[in-house]
Amino acid sequence: MWEFWRRYRRKAYVTLGVLGSGYFLYKLYDRHRRKLSDLHTELEQERRSDELIKFLVKAHFENVQRIADSTTLPHVVRCLRSQIETKLDLTHLTERLMKGKDLPNSLTAAQKLELWDRLKILSFTRMVLSLWAATLLSLYIRVQVNILGRHIYIDTARGIGGYGQFDEVDLIDRNDQQQFLASADYLSSFGLPTLISSFEGATSEVLEGKQLKDFFNTTVLHDSVIQILNTFMSMGSPHHWLSFLMPEDSKPNNLGVTSSTGSTDLCNASKFEQLMLETRAVFSSTEFRNIVDILLKAAVDVLMEDISVLCGDANLTSGMPLAKLLPRIAHMDQILLEEPNRNRYIQVIQDIPEIEIFFTLLYASTAAS
Ligand SMILES: *[C@@H]1O[C@H](CO)[C@@H](O)[C@H](O)[C@H]1NC(C)=O
Ligand SMILES: *[C@@H]1O[C@H](CO)[C@@H](O)[C@H](O)[C@H]1NC(C)=O
Ligand SMILES: *[C@@H]1O[C@H](CO)[C@@H](O)[C@H](O)[C@H]1NC(C)=O
Repeated sequence: MWEFWRRYRRKAYVTLGVLGSGYFLYKLYDRHRRKLSDLHTELEQERRSDELIKFLVKAHFENVQRIADSTTLPHVVRCLRSQIETKLDLTHLTERLMKGKDLPNSLTAAQKLELWDRLKILSFTRMVLSLWAATLLSLYIRVQVNILGRHIYIDTARGIGGYGQFDEVDLIDRNDQQQFLASADYLSSFGLPTLISSFEGATSEVLEGKQLKDFFNTTVLHDSVIQILNTFMSMGSPHHWLSFLMPEDSKPNNLGVTSSTGSTDLCNASKFEQLMLETRAVFSSTEFRNIVDILLKAAVDVLMEDISVLCGDANLTSGMPLAKLLPRIAHMDQILLEEPNRNRYIQVIQDIPEIEIFFTLLYASTAAS
C-alpha cells in the first residue's frame, strides 16, 4: 500500500487536485448562481413592490388632486367671492353719489370728493385683493396637494417595506387629509378682514394724489397695480402675508374644525399639524417667494388684457380719466374670482412652468431624506 502510494503519489495528488479544484469551482459556481438567483428574486420583489408603490401612490395622488380641483378650490373661491362682495360692498357709495347727482344740493363739494376718494380706494382694493387672493389660494391648494402626495408616497413605501403586506398599508388618515384641505378656507373665514385693511392701506399709499380727472393708460394702470402689490407684500415682517392664508398655530380647533368623533386624538392632530408645518415651511422659503412674485406678475398681465377688453371703445391704450375707469375696476373681482374651471387666472397660474420645477426640486430633496 505504502509502495503503491509512493509510486502514484504524484498522480494521486494531481488527480485529487483536479477533483478538488473542480469541486471548488463547482461550489464557487453554485454559490455564484445561487447568489445571482437570490439577487434576481430580490430585485424582482423590489421591482414589484416599486411598481405597486407607484401604482398606489398614483391612484391616491390622483384622488387627492381630484378632490382639490373639483371640491376644495371651487368651494374656497366661491366663499371668498361672497365674502368680498359683502365686506367690500360699494353700492352704498355709488348710491349716495347718484343721489348727489340727482339732487345737486344734497352733497357738499367736500363730501362728494370724499365719497369719490373712498370709491377710488375701495375699487382698487377690491380688484387687487381679489387678484392676490385668487393667486395665493390656488397656489396654497397646489402646495397642499403636493405635500399630501409626498406623504402618501412615504407612507406607502413604509407600509410595503415594513409589513410586506399590501393591505396593511396605512395611508394618511382621511380625517387629517380633509382637515388639511379644509385649512384653505382660513383666508375667507378668518383672514379676510385684516387682509382688506392691509390692502386698503397699501392702495391709499399708492393712489394718494391721483385725481379722478387724471388720465390712466395701460402703463399707468399696470404700474399702479404692481405698486399696490409690492407695497402690500413688503409691509410688516417678511412673511406677514402668510398670516392671512393660514393660522400661526395649527391646532385643529384654531381652524374651527371639529372632529366627527368629538374627541381630539393627539396622534391625528399631530399628523395634521405636521402637514401644516410643512406648508408653512414651503411658503416661508426664499425660492417660493420668487414663485409668488412670478405668479402675481403673470396674473397682472392677464388682468391688463381683461381690463383693456372691458374698456372697449374708451381706449385704455391712449388713456382715459380715472373716474371712467373706476366702475370697471370695481367689477373685476367677478372675473378674477370666477369658477375655477372657467377662471383664466387660475389656469394661467397652474400652467406656469416655474411651479412645476419648484415642486420637482421639492420632491427630489425630500425623497432623498
Ligand atoms: C401713459 O401715460 C404716461 C404718463 O401719463 C406716459 O409717460 C406713458 O408713455 C403712457 N403710456 C402709453 C403706452 O401711452
Ligand atoms: C384618529 O384616528 C383614528 C384611526 O386612525 C380614528 O378612528 C379616529 O376617529 C381619529 N380621531 C380623530 C379625532 O380624528
Ligand atoms: C386704441 O388705440 C390704439 C392706439 O392708440 C389704436 O390703434 C386703436 O385703433 C384704438 N382702438 C379703438 C377701439 O379706439
